[in-house]
Amino acid sequence: MNPEARRRLKDLQAYFDQAASSWDASAHTDPAQVRSILAYARIEPGQCILDVGCGTGVLIPPLLELTAPDGHVYALDLSPQMLEQCRRKYAPQCGPQPRVSFLLAPVEAIPLASAVCHGVVCYSSFPHFADKKSALEEMARVLRPGGWVLVAHGTSRAEVNRIHQQIGGPVAGDLLPEAEDMAALLGAAGLVDPWVLDAEDRYVALAWKEEPRAGKTQPATKR
Ligand SMILES: C[S@@+](CC[C@H](N)C(=O)[O-])C[C@H]1O[C@@H](n2cnc3c(N)ncnc32)[C@H](O)[C@@H]1O
Repeated sequence: MNPEARRRLKDLQAYFDQAASSWDASAHTDPAQVRSILAYARIEPGQCILDVGCGTGVLIPPLLELTAPDGHVYALDLSPQMLEQCRRKYAPQCGPQPRVSFLLAPVEAIPLASAVCHGVVCYSSFPHFADKKSALEEMARVLRPGGWVLVAHGTSRAEVNRIHQQIGGPVAGDLLPEAEDMAALLGAAGLVDPWVLDAEDRYVALAWKEEPRAGKTQPATKR
């Protein structure tokens, strides 16, 4: 990571650290809308899902429910304070066989092995990733073949961008790409069949990690 990118991560970390204690009271996330957005990914019981930029954990309850009884959720965030809020709320519910793990890390260096996740979701976090292509490549790395990346917001692209510009400071320039540019970014990270919806009440982008084609075999070894 270059010094400029490192500085940017530090600024964002400080910004979200100071926002963490009041985040739940100010964010007004609608659980029904979150569930209707997650439905695009068709999450199944037993799956392993990574929540990138989990914040205080707004996605944890629906993800645990959708992956029950034995799926796993990785909650990853750059901000220690955001992750601490998340951990405080959800770690006690986990019992002796935890179904959620908390990862303090930037999306640019996800501390997971390759090809372990069925899906990766970024809810209200993607605009903050400084190098979006590298972030998507890293998300694609941890996906199993046939897995998906879902980038989503509970409002339109124009509204997300207006809000960030209005807040100013370190998030002023954190913008969501237009649908066409988002599809190109997903493709550049090696993901296929990108689909992007930019509506008044949601922004949803979905793409998949290609599965090896059926019947395609390794070249025969020369004798
Ligand atoms: C706007 S908050 C959204 C949190 C949560 N998903 C929600 O909807 O309430 C964005 C979150 O992304 C995290 N974040 C920003 N840049 C990140 C990065 N490069 N790597 C990991 N997390 C990051 C922030 O720390 C913050 O918790």
